[in-house]
Formats: sequence, structure tokens, C-alpha cells
Amino acid sequence: MKILIINGPNLNMLGVREPEIYGTLTLAQIEDELRDFVEATGSSRAAADAVELEFFQSNHEGAIVDKIQEALGHTDGILINPAAYTHTSIAIADAIAAVALPAVEVHISDIESREEFRKHSFIAPKCIAQISGHGANSYRIGLETLIEHIENAK
Ligand code: DQA
Repeated sequence: MKILIINGPNLNMLGVREPEIYGTLTLAQIEDELRDFVEATGSSRAAADAVELEFFQSNHEGAIVDKIQEALGHTDGILINPAAYTHTSIAIADAIAAVALPAVEVHISDIESREEFRKHSFIAPKCIAQISGHGANSYRIGLETLIEHIENAK
């Protein structure tokens, strides 16, 4: 099973960026944690179900749309932190709907308890779940949710 993990704008700045909100882990460290999680749980999975992760980060909306479109045909699911595009991007929401791949939206911070403009997500209605407010653990929880969904859909 192949899963594409997409991170949107400014998430390449994790570790430096507002650590009181986003914590001190870098994006590379979060990606390592996800690789470790997949490795640790891999032995309980049949060889055919081995999870392969692909990571992508961009500060550009169109690049994220392109990446989602390119996933069609060789990816089983998408884990996405659209960052600020969560609250603005109909294009990314449309791309997820277009490829019709199961997607899970994740956020490090709790977007419900922050500024009013962060409460609305254009992406969430196109996703099977939204995981928000668990710090960097949101990614692992989101990945588990996505893997379980893909396995159950078989
Ligand atoms: C974020 C929340 C967004 O509102 C913000 O624009 C981000 C990060 C999060 O992971 O908490 O860039 O997606």
C-alpha cells in the first residue's frame, strides 16, 4: 500500500516556526517518526500490505494540486496537512475530489480553538477524517486512520 504524505506552506519551517504553537520537531523528524511507525507495525502486516510512504512538501498551491493529480493510479491514500491552504484552497479540495483517493487531513494545532478564520476547512469535506490538535502525533493518528480505512475497503 502506497501513501502520499503532503505538507503545505511554512511546514518546512517546523522546529523554528512558532514553537509554542507547533512544537519543536522539524518536518524531517516528524517524517522519521512516521517511517519508524510504519516499520514497527510492518511485521503484523502481510507482505502485500507493506506500507510505503512518499513525502512531499511545497509552499505552492499549484505544486500541491499537481502532486495530488500525479498520485492517481499508483497511490492508495493521501495524508495531508494543507496548512494555510486548508482555509483558502478550493483548488486543493477539488484535486482530492478529482482523484477520489481516500484522504485524511491533519493539523498539529487545534484549529477549532484558534482564530475564527482557521475554523473553516475547504479540504475536510473531501476527506474521510480530520485529525487536529495532537501536536506532531496528529500525523501518526492520521496515518493509522488512513491505513485502517484502506485495509477495510479491500
Ligand atoms: C496548521 C494550522 C493552519 O491553520 C496553519 O495555517 C498552518 C498549520 C497546523 O498544522 O496546525 O500552517 O495546518
